[in-house]
Amino acid sequence: MIGRLNHVAIAVPDLRAASAQYANTLGATVGAPQDEPDHGVTVVFIDLPNTKIELLSPLGADSPIAAFLEKNPAGGIHHICYEVQDIQAARDRLLAEGARVLGGAEPRIGAHGKPVLFLHPKDFNGTLLELEEI
Ligand code: CO
Repeated sequence: MIGRLNHVAIAVPDLRAASAQYANTLGATVGAPQDEPDHGVTVVFIDLPNTKIELLSPLGADSPIAAFLEKNPAGGIHHICYEVQDIQAARDRLLAEGARVLGGAEPRIGAHGKPVLFLHPKDFNGTLLELEEI
């Protein structure tokens, strides 16, 4: 059911410093910061030949990233995103398998303008999973 790795999202305490590190130290192609108020994050997209990295920084009062950074002050991997062909079919299969789909199990529009779902990290080896319909 799952396809390619779409992106790895890394929460960072200092978006400017992390962007500069990826651009200068690692020599990556780094985009400009984009505010995503619906998701409570500012995102910087980094294009790699085979996937993307998303640097996440809190935006607004109840950002989901703020609590994560409190527990992980140096930053850390926040989630990974797999591509699926049909997000409704994926949702139905996951629910039937007993996985917890976050947010009332209804897909919403993610940072790339495509429908996404998030799966409970306790059901997937301690890793928050995002599925994105491609
Ligand atoms: Co994501």
